[in-house]
Order: sequence, then C-alpha cells, then structure tokens
Amino acid sequence: MWNYFNPVGIHGGRGQFEQIQRLVGRRRVFVAAFPESVEQGWLARLESQLGSRLVGAATDLGPLPSRRALKPAYERFWTQHADTEVILALGGGSVMDAAKVLMVRTLDRSFDQLMQVITSGRRDLVAGSVPLICIPTTAGTGSEVTPWATVWDPQADPPVKHSLHLSVTWPEAAVLDPELTVGLPPAQTLHTGLDALSHSFEAIWNRNRNPVSTSHAIGAARGILDTLPRVLEQPRSLALRERMAAASTQAGLAFSNTQTALAHSLSYDLTMQQGTPHGIACSFSLPRIMAMVAGMEPDIDRALQAVFDAPVAAGAERLERFLQSLGVATDPADHGIPPGDWERRVAEACAGQRGRNFVGAAAGLEPEPGKPDPATRCELGAGVA
Ligand SMILES: [Fe+2]
Repeated sequence: MWNYFNPVGIHGGRGQFEQIQRLVGRRRVFVAAFPESVEQGWLARLESQLGSRLVGAATDLGPLPSRRALKPAYERFWTQHADTEVILALGGGSVMDAAKVLMVRTLDRSFDQLMQVITSGRRDLVAGSVPLICIPTTAGTGSEVTPWATVWDPQADPPVKHSLHLSVTWPEAAVLDPELTVGLPPAQTLHTGLDALSHSFEAIWNRNRNPVSTSHAIGAARGILDTLPRVLEQPRSLALRERMAAASTQAGLAFSNTQTALAHSLSYDLTMQQGTPHGIACSFSLPRIMAMVAGMEPDIDRALQAVFDAPVAAGAERLERFLQSLGVATDPADHGIPPGDWERRVAEACAGQRGRNFVGAAAGLEPEPGKPDPATRCELGAGVA
C-alpha cells in the first residue's frame, strides 16, 4: 500500500507574475523577498498589482535563514503584521524557507516557542498559520512544493541544521514564471539545476518512493537532462527557462513525498568543510550511486532505464559524461575525498538522517553513538533539502 500527497496549486507560464493578484484575492499580503528584488523592480511590480492590500515586506531574510536572523524578523512580523492574510515568498530556497517560518503562529507569538516546536516536536505550541504563496526565482530547490524549511544555527557547537515540518507549512500555491529566472547567472543556473537533478534521482532510489513520486522523478530527470545544457547556452530563452522551472518543480513533487537520500547526505560535509556549492556537492556522486543501485530493486532499475532509455550501467556512464560536460568532476578525489575514503564516507552518509532513506542503506541504521547526525551538522554556506 502507498499514499501520495501534495496539496500545492501550481501556476506556470509566462505572464503568471502579473496574475498574482488573482491568487491573492482580497486578502492582506505580506511579502518576503530576496534583497535585490527592490533594485530589480519586482517589489514595485507587486506593489502596483496589489495596491493597499500589500501591508508589509521584508527583504533581509537571507541569504540563509539562521536562527539568529529569524528571531527578530519573526517577532516583528507577528507584532506588526499579525493581520496578514497571505504571505508571498519571492526568491530562492532561503526566502521560501524563511517565509515558512514566519507563517507559523505560536501560542505566545514568540520565536522561542517556534524553536521548541522545531527542536522538541511541541506541536501543541502551534496556534495557527497564514497561507503561503511561493514565487521561486531559481529553478532547483523545489521548496515551493514541499512543507520543509531549514533553519540554520551556525552559532551552536557543533553547528546545527534544523528542519521545520508541519502540516500547515505546505504552500497554498506556487507561481512559476520564466521571466523570474531568465536573469539568473550561469553558475546559479547550473548549481540549482543540478540540485533539482539530484532531487529526481534521490526520489527514485528512495525507501519512501511510490509509483506517483517515481513517475514525477522520471519526468523531472528527463526534462533536466535535456534542458539544463541548452539553457546554459541560451540563458535568455523564456521557453527553456520555463521547461527548467517545470522540471525542477516536478522534482520537488517527487521528493516532497520521499525526502532526499544518500547523495544529499554525502553533500553536507563537503559543503560544510569546503564550501562546495550545494548543487555540485549533491550531484557529483550521482553516477557512482546509480552504479551501486543497479540490480537492487526491479522497479528502481525500470525507473532509471526510463530516464535514459538505456540499461542502468549505460545510464550511469551517460550521467557521468553529462556532469563532466557541464564541468562537474565526478571523481570523489576532485572534491577532496582521498582515494580509499569513499566507502567510509558512504557508510557514514547512509547512517545520516537523509542517508537512511537510501534504498541501499541498512534498515534502521542509527548515527554512531556520541556523534552528531551527519544530516544535522552544517555551517553557513551549506545547502538545503
Ligand atoms: Fe537539494
């Protein structure tokens, strides 16, 4: 038996940004947006659409939503803008995650209670929520169709990556307008696109997979493999940007029901210790993991064959060539993993919170006693999901 659930309404295509007022209706709006949205004119365009319904905005929530930065923002929001009826999140994963924090109202409206919800599972402290509409400006995170938000605590010893996940933190809607991503620089286009590719494969070789999540993952992976190289060559193409946005969100639909797995678990140390961008750290290992997975489960083999129209081993080689053609080294040594250390890293990563979702991880494996869960360690610069 299996279940698939995702309640997010998805509105895609050129011109959707100008239709946001339809989604908002008569509700009072608070906007959480990326800092450059002011100089780039996006905030002004929202203001002209929404008029007096726009009651407030925050553009200082990024680049990564940390516990220290979110506390004043949260308490300011629930003191000054408690009458907000819908939040618009305009930005990448960090902005959407920060908005998911703002949307949850605790009993005393304090951020400290929200941290109790996150760290101790005290859901009885949740008193309500404000609906959220996500307007992603990158094509990669998938946060617009998942209920998860990452809250970083780099001041903790060791630094901690918290995850907020409540039934009320699903966005109400996602707006995918290619005009929002057409100006994305090449490196960000590549990194976010590879993150989405990783979300697709991670949903396939996942213990929590189901036929619907797998179907989304196959479609997403095929779309990204076909589109990402072309959008890097023609970054101003609205048609290609739209295809990337759709594929990335479809990857989000896939892993919204499975979470990520081994490639993401392996990535955290690299990002934390070496600052490797999240999209690179969680994608260079995909061909090796794919080769490991071959033959484990017939349905996973079938899914991977469907991505490449080829046997799994040949698909893994094709994936390796794909990454290399985009300038991504696939040898762990090129990412600071010494020869001979790969197996130990994989074993450790399989024991991590996300690694345990990997179909090849031993069932029920717990982190080593006395050692922090690899999936909960972090530093500034680490990725999400
Ligand atoms: Fe990711």
